[in-house]
Amino acid sequence: MTDEFDFKMPSTLRRAAFDPENNRAIFASKGVPVDDPQLAERVAVKKKRQHQAWVEQLKRQRADVYWSHSLLGAGDESFEFSDWHPEEHGDKRQASNIGNKAYKLAQEIAAGTNMSVFMSGNAGTGKTSLALAMLTEIRKQGRSVMFVSTEELANLVNDRIQYPDVAQKLADTLRAMQDVDVLVLDDLGSEVGTYAQVNDKDFKGVRRDMQERMYKVANARYNGTKAEQNSARKSGKRLLKPVHSTIITSNNQISELNRIYAERTISRLITQDPNHAIFFNGMPDMRRN
Ligand SMILES: Nc1ncnc2c1ncn2[C@@H]1O[C@H](COP(=O)(O)OP(=O)(O)OP(=O)(O)O)[C@@H](O)[C@H]1O
Ligand SMILES: [Mg+2]
Repeated sequence: MTDEFDFKMPSTLRRAAFDPENNRAIFASKGVPVDDPQLAERVAVKKKRQHQAWVEQLKRQRADVYWSHSLLGAGDESFEFSDWHPEEHGDKRQASNIGNKAYKLAQEIAAGTNMSVFMSGNAGTGKTSLALAMLTEIRKQGRSVMFVSTEELANLVNDRIQYPDVAQKLADTLRAMQDVDVLVLDDLGSEVGTYAQVNDKDFKGVRRDMQERMYKVANARYNGTKAEQNSARKSGKRLLKPVHSTIITSNNQISELNRIYAERTISRLITQDPNHAIFFNGMPDMRRN
Protein backbone atom coordinates (compact mmCIF):
# COMPACT_ATOMS: atom_id res chain seq x y z
CA MET A 1 0.00 0.00 0.00
CA THR A 2 1.33 3.44 -0.85
CA ASP A 3 1.15 5.97 1.90
CA GLU A 4 0.69 9.50 0.57
CA PHE A 5 3.46 10.64 2.94
CA ASP A 6 5.88 8.08 1.41
CA PHE A 7 5.74 9.81 -1.94
CA LYS A 8 9.15 11.15 -2.96
CA MET A 9 9.40 13.74 -5.68
CA PRO A 10 12.00 12.83 -8.34
CA SER A 11 15.10 15.01 -7.79
CA THR A 12 14.84 16.68 -11.19
CA LEU A 13 11.27 17.81 -10.47
CA ARG A 14 12.21 18.91 -6.95
CA ARG A 15 15.02 21.08 -8.32
CA ALA A 16 12.67 22.62 -10.83
CA ALA A 17 10.07 23.41 -8.16
CA PHE A 18 12.48 25.02 -5.73
CA ASP A 19 14.99 26.51 -8.08
CA PRO A 20 14.02 30.14 -8.86
CA GLU A 21 16.61 30.43 -11.62
CA ASN A 22 15.11 27.41 -13.36
CA ASN A 23 11.60 28.90 -12.91
CA ARG A 24 12.76 32.16 -14.44
CA ALA A 25 14.08 30.25 -17.42
CA ILE A 26 10.75 28.44 -17.83
CA PHE A 27 8.74 31.70 -17.61
CA ALA A 28 11.17 33.51 -19.94
CA SER A 29 10.80 30.72 -22.50
CA LYS A 30 7.04 31.35 -22.42
CA GLY A 31 7.55 35.07 -23.17
CA VAL A 32 7.12 36.49 -19.63
CA PRO A 33 9.26 39.66 -19.19
CA VAL A 34 11.09 38.28 -16.11
CA ASP A 35 13.61 41.13 -15.97
CA ASP A 36 10.96 43.87 -15.88
CA PRO A 37 11.25 45.50 -12.38
CA GLN A 38 7.61 46.64 -12.63
CA LEU A 39 6.53 43.03 -12.99
CA ALA A 40 8.47 42.06 -9.86
CA GLU A 41 6.76 44.90 -8.00
CA ARG A 42 3.32 43.87 -9.25
CA VAL A 43 3.94 40.27 -8.18
CA ALA A 44 5.10 41.41 -4.73
CA VAL A 45 2.00 43.62 -4.28
CA LYS A 46 -0.28 40.77 -5.34
CA LYS A 47 1.41 38.31 -2.99
CA LYS A 48 1.07 40.76 -0.10
CA ARG A 49 -2.61 41.30 -0.86
CA GLN A 50 -3.23 37.54 -1.01
CA HIS A 51 -1.44 37.09 2.31
CA GLN A 52 -3.51 39.84 3.95
CA ALA A 53 -6.76 38.34 2.63
CA TRP A 54 -5.71 34.97 4.02
CA VAL A 55 -4.90 36.46 7.45
CA GLU A 56 -8.26 38.29 7.48
CA GLN A 57 -10.10 35.09 6.58
CA LEU A 58 -8.37 33.16 9.36
CA LYS A 59 -9.24 35.96 11.81
CA ARG A 60 -12.91 35.83 10.78
CA GLN A 61 -13.02 32.04 11.10
CA ARG A 62 -11.43 32.25 14.56
CA ALA A 63 -13.96 34.93 15.60
CA ASP A 64 -16.86 32.77 14.36
CA VAL A 65 -15.65 29.83 16.46
CA TYR A 66 -15.50 31.94 19.64
CA TRP A 67 -18.93 33.48 18.98
CA SER A 68 -20.41 30.00 18.44
CA HIS A 69 -19.49 29.15 22.05
CA SER A 70 -21.73 31.97 23.36
CA LEU A 71 -24.47 31.11 25.85
CA LEU A 72 -27.36 33.45 25.19
CA GLY A 73 -30.17 33.66 27.73
CA ALA A 74 -33.83 33.54 26.77
CA GLY A 75 -34.78 36.88 25.22
CA ASP A 76 -31.21 38.08 24.54
CA GLU A 77 -31.66 39.40 21.03
CA SER A 78 -29.17 41.18 18.85
CA PHE A 79 -28.78 44.86 19.72
CA GLU A 80 -26.78 47.64 18.06
CA PHE A 81 -26.01 51.21 19.11
CA SER A 82 -28.52 52.42 16.51
CA ASP A 83 -31.22 50.54 18.51
CA TRP A 84 -30.45 52.57 21.68
CA HIS A 85 -33.11 55.32 21.87
CA PRO A 86 -32.45 57.79 24.73
CA GLU A 87 -35.74 59.59 24.02
CA GLU A 88 -37.64 56.45 25.05
CA HIS A 89 -36.02 56.57 28.49
CA GLY A 90 -37.39 58.62 31.40
CA ASP A 91 -34.10 60.51 31.68
CA LYS A 92 -33.07 61.27 28.13
CA ARG A 93 -29.81 62.95 29.14
CA GLN A 94 -28.63 60.10 31.35
CA ALA A 95 -29.58 57.53 28.70
CA SER A 96 -27.67 59.52 26.12
CA ASN A 97 -24.57 59.86 28.37
CA ILE A 98 -24.62 56.13 29.12
CA GLY A 99 -24.95 55.23 25.44
CA ASN A 100 -22.07 57.55 24.51
CA LYS A 101 -19.82 56.19 27.25
CA ALA A 102 -20.48 52.59 26.15
CA TYR A 103 -19.78 53.56 22.52
CA LYS A 104 -16.49 55.27 23.42
CA LEU A 105 -15.31 52.28 25.48
CA ALA A 106 -16.30 49.90 22.67
CA GLN A 107 -14.15 51.91 20.26
CA GLU A 108 -11.15 51.76 22.62
CA ILE A 109 -11.52 48.00 23.04
CA ALA A 110 -12.00 47.51 19.29
CA ALA A 111 -8.75 49.42 18.74
CA GLY A 112 -6.92 46.92 20.97
CA THR A 113 -6.89 48.43 24.48
CA ASN A 114 -7.85 45.79 27.03
CA MET A 115 -9.93 46.68 30.05
CA SER A 116 -12.74 45.51 32.32
CA VAL A 117 -16.04 47.33 32.01
CA PHE A 118 -18.61 47.14 34.81
CA MET A 119 -22.28 47.87 34.00
CA SER A 120 -24.38 47.98 37.11
CA GLY A 121 -28.01 48.81 37.80
CA ASN A 122 -31.53 47.57 38.31
CA ALA A 123 -33.50 45.19 36.11
CA GLY A 124 -34.70 46.37 32.73
CA THR A 125 -32.50 49.49 32.54
CA GLY A 126 -30.67 48.40 29.38
CA LYS A 127 -27.41 46.83 30.62
CA THR A 128 -27.58 43.67 28.50
CA SER A 129 -28.69 45.67 25.46
CA LEU A 130 -25.71 48.04 25.64
CA ALA A 131 -23.28 45.18 26.36
CA LEU A 132 -24.58 43.45 23.20
CA ALA A 133 -24.22 46.71 21.24
CA MET A 134 -20.58 46.96 22.38
CA LEU A 135 -19.89 43.36 21.31
CA THR A 136 -21.48 43.89 17.90
CA GLU A 137 -19.36 47.00 17.33
CA ILE A 138 -16.13 45.34 18.50
CA ARG A 139 -16.78 42.23 16.40
CA LYS A 140 -17.39 44.33 13.29
CA GLN A 141 -13.89 45.75 13.77
CA GLY A 142 -12.31 42.30 13.83
CA ARG A 143 -11.71 41.24 17.46
CA SER A 144 -13.16 37.94 18.70
CA VAL A 145 -16.11 38.28 21.07
CA MET A 146 -18.33 36.01 23.14
CA PHE A 147 -21.49 36.50 25.21
CA VAL A 148 -22.14 34.31 28.26
CA SER A 149 -25.27 34.47 30.35
CA THR A 150 -24.04 33.59 33.84
CA GLU A 151 -27.31 31.83 34.56
CA GLU A 152 -26.94 29.59 31.49
CA LEU A 153 -23.37 28.82 32.55
CA ALA A 154 -24.58 27.85 36.03
CA ASN A 155 -27.15 25.54 34.38
CA LEU A 156 -24.36 23.76 32.45
CA VAL A 157 -22.31 23.41 35.65
CA ASN A 158 -25.39 21.93 37.29
CA ASP A 159 -26.28 19.48 34.50
CA ARG A 160 -22.76 18.32 33.62
CA ILE A 161 -22.73 15.34 35.97
CA GLN A 162 -25.90 13.83 34.56
CA TYR A 163 -25.25 14.50 30.85
CA PRO A 164 -21.84 13.82 29.21
CA ASP A 165 -22.61 16.06 26.22
CA VAL A 166 -23.26 18.94 28.63
CA ALA A 167 -19.91 18.26 30.32
CA GLN A 168 -18.19 18.58 26.93
CA LYS A 169 -20.08 21.75 26.05
CA LEU A 170 -19.17 23.24 29.43
CA ALA A 171 -15.48 22.39 28.97
CA ASP A 172 -15.44 23.98 25.46
CA THR A 173 -17.26 27.08 26.69
CA LEU A 174 -14.92 27.57 29.65
CA ARG A 175 -11.84 27.18 27.47
CA ALA A 176 -13.11 29.78 25.00
CA MET A 177 -14.09 32.12 27.87
CA GLN A 178 -10.48 32.17 29.04
CA ASP A 179 -8.89 33.64 25.94
CA VAL A 180 -11.52 35.19 23.67
CA ASP A 181 -10.51 38.83 23.07
CA VAL A 182 -13.70 40.28 24.56
CA LEU A 183 -16.12 38.44 26.87
CA VAL A 184 -19.47 39.66 28.15
CA LEU A 185 -20.43 38.00 31.43
CA ASP A 186 -24.08 38.87 31.65
CA ASP A 187 -26.02 39.19 34.88
CA LEU A 188 -23.19 38.14 37.17
CA GLY A 189 -24.65 37.26 40.58
CA SER A 190 -28.13 36.43 39.29
CA GLU A 191 -27.32 32.72 39.55
CA VAL A 192 -27.54 32.70 43.37
CA GLY A 193 -31.00 34.01 44.15
CA THR A 194 -32.56 36.95 45.86
CA TYR A 195 -31.14 40.10 47.41
CA ALA A 196 -32.23 38.82 50.84
CA GLN A 197 -30.42 35.50 50.37
CA VAL A 198 -27.19 37.19 49.33
CA ASN A 199 -27.29 39.56 52.29
CA ASP A 200 -28.21 36.91 54.87
CA LYS A 201 -25.43 36.48 57.45
CA ASP A 202 -25.30 32.72 56.81
CA PHE A 203 -24.95 33.11 53.05
CA LYS A 204 -21.98 31.01 51.88
CA GLY A 205 -21.62 32.27 48.32
CA VAL A 206 -22.21 30.60 44.99
CA ARG A 207 -21.79 26.80 44.81
CA ARG A 208 -18.18 25.73 45.00
CA ASP A 209 -17.96 24.08 41.55
CA MET A 210 -19.16 27.32 39.92
CA GLN A 211 -16.85 29.37 42.14
CA GLU A 212 -13.75 27.38 41.10
CA ARG A 213 -14.55 27.58 37.41
CA MET A 214 -15.22 31.29 37.52
CA TYR A 215 -11.93 31.90 39.34
CA LYS A 216 -10.04 30.10 36.59
CA VAL A 217 -11.75 32.21 33.93
CA ALA A 218 -11.16 35.45 35.88
CA ASN A 219 -7.50 34.63 36.41
CA ALA A 220 -6.88 33.77 32.75
CA ARG A 221 -8.62 36.94 31.61
CA TYR A 222 -6.58 39.12 33.93
CA ASN A 223 -3.17 37.41 33.96
CA GLY A 224 -3.36 35.53 30.64
CA THR A 225 -3.65 31.76 30.09
CA LYS A 226 -0.70 29.47 30.90
CA ALA A 227 0.12 29.32 27.17
CA GLU A 228 0.08 33.13 26.86
CA GLN A 229 2.30 33.50 29.92
CA ASN A 230 4.78 30.92 28.61
CA SER A 231 4.97 32.50 25.19
CA ALA A 232 5.48 35.97 26.72
CA ARG A 233 8.27 34.60 28.93
CA LYS A 234 9.98 32.96 25.96
CA SER A 235 9.92 36.11 23.89
CA GLY A 236 10.96 38.30 26.85
CA LYS A 237 7.77 40.38 26.65
CA ARG A 238 5.65 41.54 29.59
CA LEU A 239 1.91 40.97 29.36
CA LEU A 240 -0.19 44.10 29.88
CA LYS A 241 -2.96 43.47 32.43
CA PRO A 242 -5.77 42.74 31.98
CA VAL A 243 -4.63 40.53 29.11
CA HIS A 244 -8.23 40.28 27.77
CA SER A 245 -11.26 42.57 27.94
CA THR A 246 -14.28 41.61 30.01
CA ILE A 247 -17.62 43.40 30.17
CA ILE A 248 -19.70 42.54 33.24
CA THR A 249 -23.37 43.39 33.72
CA SER A 250 -24.95 42.95 37.14
CA ASN A 251 -27.86 43.91 39.37
CA ASN A 252 -25.57 43.48 42.37
CA GLN A 253 -23.24 45.90 44.12
CA ILE A 254 -19.54 45.02 44.18
CA SER A 255 -19.77 44.24 47.94
CA GLU A 256 -22.48 41.66 47.14
CA LEU A 257 -20.48 40.16 44.27
CA ASN A 258 -17.59 39.75 46.71
CA ARG A 259 -19.90 37.73 48.95
CA ILE A 260 -21.24 35.65 46.04
CA TYR A 261 -17.84 34.93 44.46
CA ALA A 262 -14.58 35.17 46.37
CA GLU A 263 -12.91 38.57 46.43
CA ARG A 264 -9.95 37.13 44.51
CA THR A 265 -12.29 36.41 41.58
CA ILE A 266 -14.10 39.74 41.66
CA SER A 267 -10.91 41.80 41.97
CA ARG A 268 -9.65 40.18 38.74
CA LEU A 269 -12.91 40.79 36.89
CA ILE A 270 -14.19 44.15 38.06
CA THR A 271 -12.54 47.45 37.40
CA GLN A 272 -11.56 50.02 40.02
CA ASP A 273 -11.46 52.70 37.31
CA PRO A 274 -14.60 54.90 37.36
CA ASN A 275 -14.01 55.71 33.68
CA HIS A 276 -14.67 52.05 32.88
CA ALA A 277 -17.81 51.70 35.04
CA ILE A 278 -21.30 52.54 33.76
CA PHE A 279 -24.03 53.04 36.37
CA PHE A 280 -27.67 52.65 35.31
CA ASN A 281 -28.98 53.74 38.72
CA GLY A 282 -32.11 55.85 38.51
CA MET A 283 -32.95 54.70 35.00
CA PRO A 284 -36.50 53.37 34.49
CA ASP A 285 -37.33 49.69 33.95
CA MET A 286 -37.84 49.66 30.17
CA ARG A 287 -39.78 46.39 30.35
CA ARG A 288 -42.51 48.18 32.31
CA ASN A 289 -42.43 51.35 30.21
N1 LIG B 1 -32.44 53.04 25.37
C1 LIG B 1 -33.13 51.98 24.93
N2 LIG B 1 -33.60 52.01 23.69
C2 LIG B 1 -34.28 50.98 23.21
N3 LIG B 1 -34.61 49.88 23.90
C3 LIG B 1 -34.18 49.79 25.17
C4 LIG B 1 -33.42 50.84 25.75
N4 LIG B 1 -33.12 50.48 27.02
C5 LIG B 1 -33.68 49.28 27.21
N5 LIG B 1 -34.32 48.86 26.11
C6 LIG B 1 -35.09 47.61 25.96
O1 LIG B 1 -35.62 47.29 27.24
C7 LIG B 1 -35.56 45.90 27.50
C8 LIG B 1 -34.75 45.63 28.76
O2 LIG B 1 -33.38 45.95 28.55
P1 LIG B 1 -32.18 45.00 29.01
O3 LIG B 1 -32.57 43.57 28.88
O4 LIG B 1 -30.99 45.47 28.30
O5 LIG B 1 -32.11 45.38 30.56
P2 LIG B 1 -31.13 44.85 31.69
O6 LIG B 1 -30.62 46.05 32.41
O7 LIG B 1 -30.12 43.94 31.13
O8 LIG B 1 -32.13 44.05 32.62
P3 LIG B 1 -31.83 42.83 33.63
O9 LIG B 1 -31.06 43.38 34.79
O10 LIG B 1 -33.19 42.36 34.02
O11 LIG B 1 -31.08 41.79 32.88
C9 LIG B 1 -34.94 45.26 26.27
O12 LIG B 1 -35.98 44.77 25.45
C10 LIG B 1 -34.22 46.42 25.59
O13 LIG B 1 -34.12 46.21 24.22
MG1 LIG C 1 -29.78 41.86 31.47
